[in-house]
Amino acid sequence: MADRAPRLLDAGLASLRSADDAEPWAYYEQLRELGDVVWDDVMGVWLVLSYDLLKQVTREDGEVWGKGRERHYPGVGMTPDEWHEWATFYGPHSLQAVPREEHDAQHRWWMKTFSGRQVRLLGDTLVRPIADMQIDRFAARGRAELHGEFSARVAPRVVAAAMGLPWEDDDWLEHLLELHERRIALFSLNFDGNRGSASDLAAVEAGRAAVLELIELVRPYVEERRAGDGEDFISLVWRAAEDVFGPDHTAEDVIATINVAFSGGSHTTRSTTSSGLYLLLGDPEVQGWIRSGGPSALARFVEETLRLFGAIPYQMRTALRDTELGGVEIRCGERIIGLGQAANRDPRRHPRPFSVDLGRRAPRDHFSFGIPGVSSCPGQGLARTQLTTIFDVVLERLPGLRLDPDREPPRYRESLIRLWKPLHALFE
Ligand code: HEM
Repeated sequence: MADRAPRLLDAGLASLRSADDAEPWAYYEQLRELGDVVWDDVMGVWLVLSYDLLKQVTREDGEVWGKGRERHYPGVGMTPDEWHEWATFYGPHSLQAVPREEHDAQHRWWMKTFSGRQVRLLGDTLVRPIADMQIDRFAARGRAELHGEFSARVAPRVVAAAMGLPWEDDDWLEHLLELHERRIALFSLNFDGNRGSASDLAAVEAGRAAVLELIELVRPYVEERRAGDGEDFISLVWRAAEDVFGPDHTAEDVIATINVAFSGGSHTTRSTTSSGLYLLLGDPEVQGWIRSGGPSALARFVEETLRLFGAIPYQMRTALRDTELGGVEIRCGERIIGLGQAANRDPRRHPRPFSVDLGRRAPRDHFSFGIPGVSSCPGQGLARTQLTTIFDVVLERLPGLRLDPDREPPRYRESLIRLWKPLHALFE
């Protein structure tokens, strides 16, 4: 590796994970000075930073680059096969469990289901009332902590409602979120390179138990919609089950699909909501641009939030054969991590990369919904509808929105799903 590309160790730089739970931008710029592809000696992966090279990966995805069944396998507590079943919620025909061709067909079905007019209508019928209801709880106070009291409550509720889960039951929803958090916690074990400490094994056990409980929690709602005659996502999945999963599907595939959707859609949208609110709180000028620019400015603000603070910072791929990326030789089986957030701020692509700019030429040209294509986020239509409506409601209901200077300031946090919090705010 040493003679093929710059290495972090040689440059005296810490491994990628040192940039977790903090703003990583200065670190990314140090990496960029080394090159567009850099070897992380500690993690044993290639870090890819540039817009152009992530576009190359996009073009070659599925041919040269694979996602790898075991990509998050922590190496302890379960065999790789057990891990795969666990990670896919024991639904053998669900999206992430099936081989490539079936995956791509299912992915197309998801994309269609979560985009288009029906989903946009949810903005007014579902998202707006939920956001309004949440604001009613604190509006009269003139102050609130908008992450905990707003974003963290609205996004999961909307996803639960769209699925047809009991979104009005606060305790039920809290429990569902907590179980999903225990599962997500396991995905970072692989990144950390931990192997077999008592706390890793305890986390694996807790994660395993959480998934089994999630399956049973969702089961009654799935069973009662078998007829598939509703408009909620559970009913839609039942209606399409024969085509989507094949003739030998069972309720386990539907349960897994609902859990995958909730897992993919709740924490990510919650975090992106908070990052957008952080931008609004910090800059009254941006609020003014959106107010005067109407729906198109609002839609562009959503894309800038995603570009600047996409919630999922890492895109992992494994080389399916020997190849070359940015002049660096990558061998079959080696892993790369696409740093989407660094590529989103690549100055060669995005002028004034660190600023909110509602006039960008191609506002959606970012990697915050993953590497575009058959592995990108299939819930992006619903996510965009949610974010647009939520920011619209906030600007309408909370005039004079600003940070509370006397309270703890926001900090950029967490590792695999990033966000700004706390968001102590004042408003009229
Ligand atoms: C702002 C909100 C969201 C962001 C930033 C986001 C981001 C992402 C990213 C980056 C990926 C690719 C992960 C990878 O390649 O490893 C992904 C995948 C996925 N997302 Fe989202 N997502 C969001 C909302 C949603 C919603 C609302 C849903 C469902 C209702 C959803 C469902 C999924 C699923 C099922 C996958 C896996 C796709 C596959 O394996 O082919 N996401 N998301």
